Amino acid sequence: MALTPRILLVDDNAALIDNLRETLEEEGYLVTSAGSVAGALQAATAGFDVALVDLRLPDGNGTALTEQLRNDHPDAAIVMLTGNATLETAAAAVRAGAFAYLVKPASTPDLLLTLEQALRQVKLQAEKRELARRAQVAEKLAAVGTMTAGLSHEIRNPLNAASLQLVVLERRLRKLPPLEQPPYLEPLKLVRDEIARLEHLLQDFLQFARPRELTLRALPLEPLVSAVVDLLAGEAERRGVRLWRDLPVGLPQVQGEDERLRQILMNLALNALEATPRGGTVRIWAQARPEEVWIAVEDSGPGIEPAVRQRIFEPFFSTKATGSGLGLPIVHAIVTQHGGVVGVEPSALGGARFWFTLLRAR
Ligand SMILES: Nc1ncnc2c1ncn2[C@@H]1O[C@H](COP(=O)(O)OP(=O)(O)OP(=O)(O)O)[C@@H](O)[C@H]1O
Ligand SMILES: [Mg+2]
Repeated sequence: MALTPRILLVDDNAALIDNLRETLEEEGYLVTSAGSVAGALQAATAGFDVALVDLRLPDGNGTALTEQLRNDHPDAAIVMLTGNATLETAAAAVRAGAFAYLVKPASTPDLLLTLEQALRQVKLQAEKRELARRAQVAEKLAAVGTMTAGLSHEIRNPLNAASLQLVVLERRLRKLPPLEQPPYLEPLKLVRDEIARLEHLLQDFLQFARPRELTLRALPLEPLVSAVVDLLAGEAERRGVRLWRDLPVGLPQVQGEDERLRQILMNLALNALEATPRGGTVRIWAQARPEEVWIAVEDSGPGIEPAVRQRIFEPFFSTKATGSGLGLPIVHAIVTQHGGVVGVEPSALGGARFWFTLLRAR
């Protein structure tokens, strides 16, 4: 859960919504609203922590909506609101998975108390999940453990030697008549690329085995995101995917380490590009929040099945033929090291939205 709690209000009574919005914003909540089932499902794609759902909506009923929201956003909590309480509606609310059930007109203190309780539950559950995830990650890392670090060093030495010999080889080949060079230089380039890939992999391994201390600085995000978009422009073009950034002007600076933050964005954007079919879109955007900056990388790809979603932050979990499964665990490690939170949810573009938060620089 992000630091600023996000509340989604669903009611077709505009006056009530305005009223509630004002109260909740005064309490420091981030509020979005909708007046119908369709509107709520659309608004929910932007993510929320607690939804306040009216039972009777113009295009459907709140119970079915609650069920759908619970299904799409298992990490969030739903509080149902109704004008006339009956035993049936209460039972239906419980069955739909609502956290609580309030009767209109609910007093402001009652409403705020219920929201606080719902948020506490959301937070506890997120913490529980996070702990379970960390335990799982720690277990896997222990299994791979120091062996990885040792092995990586052992591999790095011969790899360096091979790289050096390639340079020698290339220099000798360049002395051949120009027309004779290509049949030798092409395979040489292939070998060099593969060695670079291995070196990259080793760096990922080492980063896990011995995470470095961070040197935090106040950083503007705009140049960082631009650099990543520029670096990946060729890859995006090759794949026929539109890669674009959408940062508001005046976005506050964050506390971070340039190199690490770039690695987060690269890993997320590469995953997004890899998941998105030709003609699709990958979007990097950000929002300022009172304490933090929220950054998202989302795509119009196929999204992530719930069963896969549970495992994506595990080291070495990959559904790709040549994936190492280290991209997201590294993102998770770096974001956590920065004091932020990372999450994934469905994207309004149709695919996956990976988001993370960074503390604002002070
Ligand atoms: N944007 C996305 N859309 C759909 N699935 C995704 C997306 N990003 C990640 N995944 C899923 O999460 C898995 C883990 O991602 P991760 O970046 O950790 O490893 P990888 O991409 O498979 O390999 P590596 O990044 O190490 O080359 C992926 O194999 C893929 O199944
Ligand atoms: Mg990846």
